[in-house]
Amino acid sequence: MTDALSTWRLDVGVANHTLVFASINDALPTVVYSGPKLADSARLDDFARADVRPITPGTLDQIAPLSLLPEEGLGFQGYCGLQLTDEDGRPALTQFNVVSVDASPHALTFYAKEPTLHLALTLTLCCEADSGVLAVASEIENLSTNRWRVDWLSVPVLPVDQSFDVMQEYRGRWTQEFTPIKNNIRTGVHLRESRRARTGHDHFPGLIVGETPLAWTRGNAAAVHYAFSDVHRVALESLPDGRRQVQAGVAEIRWLEKNAKLHSGDAYWTFSASGMNELAHHYQHYVRTHIVNLPDPTAPRYVNYNCWEAIYFDHNIERLKFLANSAASVGAERFVLDDGWFGTEAIPRNDDTSSLGDWVVDVKKYPEGLNPLIEHVNDLGMKFGLWLEPEMVNLHSALAEQHPTWVLKHGEVKHVEGRQQFLLDFTKSEVVEYIYQSIHTILESHNIEYIKWDMNRDATRAVDAQGHRSLVRHSNAVHALMARIRQNHPHVEIESCASGGGRIDYRVLQNTHRVWLSDSIDARVRWKMQNEAFIFLPPSVYGSHVGAEKAHTSARKQPMSFRALVAMTGHMGIESDMAELNEADRATLMRYIALYKTHRNWMHQGRQYRLDSLEETALTQEFVAADQSQFLLFSANLDVPIDETTAPLRLVGLDKQADYSVCLVNKDDIDPLATRIFPHPLIENDSAVFSGEQLMHQGLVPPFLMPDSMWLFHGKRI
Ligand code: DGJ
Repeated sequence: MTDALSTWRLDVGVANHTLVFASINDALPTVVYSGPKLADSARLDDFARADVRPITPGTLDQIAPLSLLPEEGLGFQGYCGLQLTDEDGRPALTQFNVVSVDASPHALTFYAKEPTLHLALTLTLCCEADSGVLAVASEIENLSTNRWRVDWLSVPVLPVDQSFDVMQEYRGRWTQEFTPIKNNIRTGVHLRESRRARTGHDHFPGLIVGETPLAWTRGNAAAVHYAFSDVHRVALESLPDGRRQVQAGVAEIRWLEKNAKLHSGDAYWTFSASGMNELAHHYQHYVRTHIVNLPDPTAPRYVNYNCWEAIYFDHNIERLKFLANSAASVGAERFVLDDGWFGTEAIPRNDDTSSLGDWVVDVKKYPEGLNPLIEHVNDLGMKFGLWLEPEMVNLHSALAEQHPTWVLKHGEVKHVEGRQQFLLDFTKSEVVEYIYQSIHTILESHNIEYIKWDMNRDATRAVDAQGHRSLVRHSNAVHALMARIRQNHPHVEIESCASGGGRIDYRVLQNTHRVWLSDSIDARVRWKMQNEAFIFLPPSVYGSHVGAEKAHTSARKQPMSFRALVAMTGHMGIESDMAELNEADRATLMRYIALYKTHRNWMHQGRQYRLDSLEETALTQEFVAADQSQFLLFSANLDVPIDETTAPLRLVGLDKQADYSVCLVNKDDIDPLATRIFPHPLIENDSAVFSGEQLMHQGLVPPFLMPDSMWLFHGKRI
């Protein structure tokens, strides 16, 4: 009897990428092709038949399929996509059969059944017509009379091309988020895992694979982001036979009850034949159009003023009014009151040891409540935002005193503290209800249009009162709470913060609108960070603030123009103490805020590129308008240049045929020491004309630059 072969294709349209899937005798499909877009007439069966792998002696007679969910029951010896055990410890050695398929030009859903174990599996791969991102998810359903322990359920597994030899992912810590690590892809399993009820600064769940040297402007690459970061595992396996797979799923054992379903969470793939910038374009567009749901999508991204670094816990209405006046006068459009505004009379929040959970206005600091300050801010034409940390409680709080059992801290066992605080037990519906009502009351009684939702400790010993693991339930409850707030207060924007960038993913962005990338606003650190984070996040979504001259997290001093330019490339804001600004810095800041306002709309809808630098100390980012009519080039130097002269900046993404009038926007802000020995036409003249072709192929030679400073070039199509 000949094998029955079925094939399907999925075109990840905007990425110009095709995946071909094949199933033999109704087994779970494998990906037999993943590469440049195929002609509509491509004969898919030929691709399936050509996907043969000769075997050597000493192995099994047949290579087990690397299917969309590799099965131990079919002899797969690598990392299996589904790991189930019954209550007696018997593994589910599945052999799923595809029973039906929903195939549309942009989505494929495979429905499969396990005939003897009575399990149903749904594998979904979906690509919106306008996007270059493929969203994948798995779901398992228990149709048996057993109760199954689910050790692992991966999203549908995609292979990694064997020509890809390098991977990039991220490590970090507080104030060092998005630190890239580049490694060769090696044999075996490379696994990243986080079980903190937040992503963690060190485990952003994003992985890039590609061809050496994994450049920004050229070469094949693919990326995957897994969006269940509160408790996630991402694994890249290189099998001994050369095949590679990527799996992602929830890093917590769960139970699959009779008639119940479990979901894997969602992962998002994208592909590029022209370097990592293209990955960024696909992800940025996808996040803007399919993930983030702004209260008013037509509104510009307002300039925030956040008072944290100016006052910390020292709240004083007159001082706050001064900060608001001063922020408004340089162009801020939203004022965010950070930590320290709440607490009871007996337990005020004067530092980080107390009061979390007591979401009432501190009447000593605000005798007439928050409304006088909010009205003051509104009268200045600014919107008002408020800091909250809804998932947390201090033991020294009225809430913990009244409800000790609400604290995620059971019995007398030792608990590791984090910032002297604990998670609330969000598996208890009354706890979530209490927090919802507290937030709802505040929002109802004030004109608050923005929440900074913070989360400042990792979960440890995360179990419910019965001792069952609770991270997934905590995470689900947090997202449901956010969704409920969004639903009942649709005009409120939410920023996701977790000691800086500790909770960033596409799941949290479905209910929030901005992420606080890091508590480091040292412009050099930030510039490097933003030049990685932009792969996964559009600039309209990552907050970037102008900090103090001497950065609070590094004590490094940087000029205002550098700080302001770095902030301008994200969702711009200010964090510095306005009282510390001298007149010159104030004027500079004001100019850059005005510049941000002039350009933000097209910058946030356009394309963002990082240039492959010809110079070690340079780090350059280019924004190009969607219609290529203009560009901004942010060209920073992070150290003393090594070469005797500057190397050309080869631009990308311009209109080749057009001429651009280019000017150096900030030549007056740069230390003259930088340019005195090296005359430059763009310093001597107001502008110069270059063709798009010339800018892209020959490049633009920038003037010399001192460390921790940045040139800003603006080009306009003539
Ligand atoms: C951590 C955040 O990252 C800061 O911006 C600030 O909001 C503090 N928490 C407040 O406690």
